[in-house]
Amino acid sequence: MAGLTESLGRLQERFAAAAAAVTGERELEALRVHYLGRNGEVTQLRRTIGTLPPDERREAGKAINDVVADMEALLEDAAGALRSRALETELAQSIDVTFPAPSCGLGSIHPVRRIIERTCDYFTRHGFAVVLGPEAEPEYYNFDALNIPDDHPARENFDSFWLNGGIVLRPHTSPIQVRTMQRYPPPVAIVAPGKCYRRDATDARHLYAFHQIEGLLVAEGIHFGHLKGTLEHLCREIFGPQQSVRFRPSYFPFTEPSAEVDTTCPKCGGTGHVAENARCAMCGGSGWIELGGAGMVHPNVLLEVKYDPDKYSGWAFGFGVERLGLALYEVDDIRRFVNSDPDFLAQLR
Ligand code: DAH
Repeated sequence: MAGLTESLGRLQERFAAAAAAVTGERELEALRVHYLGRNGEVTQLRRTIGTLPPDERREAGKAINDVVADMEALLEDAAGALRSRALETELAQSIDVTFPAPSCGLGSIHPVRRIIERTCDYFTRHGFAVVLGPEAEPEYYNFDALNIPDDHPARENFDSFWLNGGIVLRPHTSPIQVRTMQRYPPPVAIVAPGKCYRRDATDARHLYAFHQIEGLLVAEGIHFGHLKGTLEHLCREIFGPQQSVRFRPSYFPFTEPSAEVDTTCPKCGGTGHVAENARCAMCGGSGWIELGGAGMVHPNVLLEVKYDPDKYSGWAFGFGVERLGLALYEVDDIRRFVNSDPDFLAQLR
């Protein structure tokens, strides 16, 4: 028994030293087999138990079992150490903290929104309020109250999407004029941006859903000169100080007189051509870009909202935001504003 104890002691020491020096999983497995395998050193020692006197066998068996338990624990520790060393190596290789990080795309204000914000900013600085209105409107606000009765041919200019019950997806922002004047006594000064809908076939110049900005100023003594001055200043603020504004006689049922408002084409600077003999594609060679309609609020509209047309007068305008965007950003196709192309939006950032 003394001999066995001694052998076990030496064997355990050798094993511990070997286990501490192990550098890989295969080596570790070889070590296990060498000592604890079917023909391993410990197994061979165990076979000698039968040669001992019977009263020592029990103790010998226990001594061997203790050593085996120790060895197994050491093997477990060594395996754990190998695993964490492998993880450290892997981490050190795969994470280069100096490597440039992939940038997450920075968003930006959509160009349509930016034009709306700049226009509203101009008007709020001049004492106007920003108001909004519903996109689905009863016929009354869209047409009747704006001096466009049922049989009026001007209704055809507003080829609209009809919902049930005489409700229409508003084809212009002008109904907000009526809602505002019915709600507030004069004077009123508002600007009203919003989405509008028309049954237009989509092409480079038309969208069936687009934005307008409506303006309205009603007070005592307001005349056409105020309208011209205001819109000229607005255009100069948005396009630049060189900008001119042109008013062409036109017709809208809700204004009298009415005008179509144009501003200098920013692409050709109003010359109508971009190079020698090359017609400007932006303005079609006219040198002007159409912004929308405007005029002096028709007395019938004032009467409808119970404003006294002998005492009060006012101007109004309605501009197409995407149309303005085409000219301002020199874009060739209005659909670019709605097809969510991040490259396009980044260019205009
Ligand atoms: N609502 C008109 C349209 O969409 C544009 C317009 C013209 C608005 C004259 C106005 C205005 O306020 O006075 O075609």
